[in-house]
Amino acid sequence: MQRTPIILGIESSCDETAAALYGEAGLLAHAVHSQVAIHADYGGVVPELASRDHIRKIAPLIENVCATAGHPTITGIAYTRGPGLVGALLVGASVAAGYGMGLSVPVLGVHHMEGHLLSPLLEAEPPAFPYVALLVSGGHTMLVAVEGVGRYRVLGESLDDAVGEAFDKAAKMLGLGYPGGPALSRLAAEGDPTAHAFPRPMCNRPGLDFSFSGLKTAVMLAIKSGGRTRAAQADIAASFQQAVVETLVAKCARAVRAAGMERLVVAGGVGANASLRAALAERGRVDGFALYFPRPAFCTDNAAMIALTGYLRRTQMRPGIVPAEAVPRWSLETLVPPASAAAS
Ligand code: KG4
Ligand code: ZN
Repeated sequence: MQRTPIILGIESSCDETAAALYGEAGLLAHAVHSQVAIHADYGGVVPELASRDHIRKIAPLIENVCATAGHPTITGIAYTRGPGLVGALLVGASVAAGYGMGLSVPVLGVHHMEGHLLSPLLEAEPPAFPYVALLVSGGHTMLVAVEGVGRYRVLGESLDDAVGEAFDKAAKMLGLGYPGGPALSRLAAEGDPTAHAFPRPMCNRPGLDFSFSGLKTAVMLAIKSGGRTRAAQADIAASFQQAVVETLVAKCARAVRAAGMERLVVAGGVGANASLRAALAERGRVDGFALYFPRPAFCTDNAAMIALTGYLRRTQMRPGIVPAEAVPRWSLETLVPPASAAAS
């Protein structure tokens, strides 16, 4: 008897541990444990602490989603094979290999950024292919043309800091906690976004790449020359956020036009930023492109997107014992569609 496919997804690439189940009916259950409290004292992710906490949390999270979904029969497992922190990735890879062996089901290592690119498909009204995706997280800033599953063209990316990293560093300079993005945007709400004329990096040059390190330096100089009161700091935060948002909006509009597409998807943690959402929505109305945001829980790291990716690539899953693989650096453009991968 042919069993209906149900894929267990496992995510452990950075500081979130997550599990999810995805089947023909869509997402059956998902659960996330955030390690923010563990890393907060250090002002950033401590890789060894991340790995140890993944080990503690992953099996209970898997049991949790299985119970929530009524213990369905799992037919395959997808785990994040990369990119990410190698020790953290190895936890998910080993657990996936172990569960695969124990349940006698095939296992597939998937690309974390492909998960982010496909995450809007988890929503009730998903975008049709093709679309341009802006991926903005703590580790990545990318514009990608998505023609279909496994058909990705990187249009532009950050040459230095990722946007989330720039938010986190600016927040740290302003004495705000970790992760800094949400704290900085709260402070920005009190300030004047026109108070400082910070650079809009690379907006006046052609191309779709980004650079945020100059902006970081400008923030540092503004703090040094008088950013000590709360009002002054709020002005710096607001002006910084405005420079980032305007840069991202300009590049997104340029990418949609250059790719000749009508849809823009925004994914990754910075996609939760309210100013960015509002400015992109406004630009979409003016330029005539449709805008899609996964819900905030699917913008940040989660296993629902990994289970979904595994489900869409289930023809690639092969039975048998698989090695636990972790690939810290892995280019999106090396991926191929599931049909051609299964044939090769
Ligand atoms: O995708 P994500 O959860 O994790 C990875 O980096 O993979 O993104 C986290 C990043 C952090 O840098 C955080 O400061 C930023 O997203 N972030 C925000 C906001 N919420 C999260 N940045 C600006 N505004 C926000 N509201
Ligand atoms: Zn991510």
